Amino acid sequence: MSPSMIRRERFTAAIALGANVGEPERTFKRALNVLERDVDFTVLRRSHWHATEPVGAPDQPAYTNGAVLAETTLAPKELLEALRKVETHLGRDRSTEERFGPRVLDLDILFVTDSNGDHVRVRSDELTLPHPRMEERAFVLAPLAEVAPAARLLRSGRTVKDQLEFIETGGGLASFESVDEARAWCAASAEDGGTLGFVPTMGALHEGHLELVRRAARENDRVCVSIFVNPLQFNNPADLERYPRDFAGDTKLLSSAGCSMAFTGTLEQFFPEGTEAAAIDPGPAAEGLEGTFRPGHFEGVATIVNRLFEVVRPTRAYFGAKDFQQCLVVEALESAQAGAPEVVRCPIVRSSSGLALASRNALLPDDAKADALRIFKALDTVRQAWRSGLRDASTLQNMLQAELDHPSVGLEYAEIRDPSAWTTKAPSGLLEEAVALVAAVIGGVRLIDNMELSAP
Ligand code: PAJ
Repeated sequence: MSPSMIRRERFTAAIALGANVGEPERTFKRALNVLERDVDFTVLRRSHWHATEPVGAPDQPAYTNGAVLAETTLAPKELLEALRKVETHLGRDRSTEERFGPRVLDLDILFVTDSNGDHVRVRSDELTLPHPRMEERAFVLAPLAEVAPAARLLRSGRTVKDQLEFIETGGGLASFESVDEARAWCAASAEDGGTLGFVPTMGALHEGHLELVRRAARENDRVCVSIFVNPLQFNNPADLERYPRDFAGDTKLLSSAGCSMAFTGTLEQFFPEGTEAAAIDPGPAAEGLEGTFRPGHFEGVATIVNRLFEVVRPTRAYFGAKDFQQCLVVEALESAQAGAPEVVRCPIVRSSSGLALASRNALLPDDAKADALRIFKALDTVRQAWRSGLRDASTLQNMLQAELDHPSVGLEYAEIRDPSAWTTKAPSGLLEEAVALVAAVIGGVRLIDNMELSAP
């Protein structure tokens, strides 16, 4: 029998298309034409092209995503090779691109079924089938649901259509109320080799937190968020008592921000050995300002963050510059410990009026909201002064304090620091870099904010 007489298996392949530079729709059409021309590949169905906003990534244009269902005699690895060739042919250069950078064309095999309709499983360095992350991603499932709504997904056992509805209504998020369950989920997630982004929080989530989550979702295969109001970092019991809590509301928000797992736990679960035995020295960045006004606060932060890193073992951990000194403390933890995640510092998210978003803002009485804005205005005034050339540390600091001199502002500190060389006391003389930091009690609520004056 000649080789041509051997009947080759016919496969059905679902392929995701994505692009955010050039003209995605034209590129997709050309890619499919080239495939149909050059290899045994016939498009059975094609989805609409969906626009996906890269939320929180103003530096990247929107993505266009689509899906096709195709028939082919190419085995999965041959198909992957054909797709890579088309990507290159249409201008993609995998050797120079950034991992999360813009894409001329992205062609991913989502799943392949054989002539009996059974999933073909592949697990190698270059290819894992079915695609390990497709069931979590609405931007993949939405176009896929147009071309293969009834295809059954292996992991969830749901059809594509049902899985899309499931994640869009918040069900795609795993949530645990125990540390052991969270640890097990993270360990299982690490097994398929993907990256895990981690956002530690104390809940009562707002856009500031959600921006961290969205960024983590863009930069990692999966995202885990912890929600734990950590008693160790509260030096004031009344503050701990009235800290806002809303686990159910939080998990809803997280699901649509791209979080895969959220968890909480109890102090005893986090520290079965006792909190004293587990205590971590927060180092020199904990001294001064917040450290002075909240004794023990940063030891509590360092202790829980260190334990959270041990439980989650993330690839990257995301922190907001809103808590500037906390960032310094955590970055020092990272450099002191082997196996610690990469710590990513993210910009402060503000309301349109300038107020830095914070869970405690929910506690502000209505009549204190305008006064709360005084902090941003003072920081902004000093930034203007910096921009017009003022560099003297004590003049900047005096200006900041004068701006905040008002009966409604219970000022704790308003200080200038060199962000690259943390000191307990204010630096003197001319600065090359500067950050202005403020803590004040307004309307009975303690608010903190800061601004890097030297940031572009
Ligand atoms: P929490 O105040 O809930 O903040 C969680 C994370 O969100 C922190 O990294 C914080 O800096 C960031 N964040 C809060 N408001 C932000 C805003 N307006 N813009 C940008 N980022 C913002 O910080 C803690 O919890 C705790 O100390 C914790 C690290 C979880 C340890 O218990």
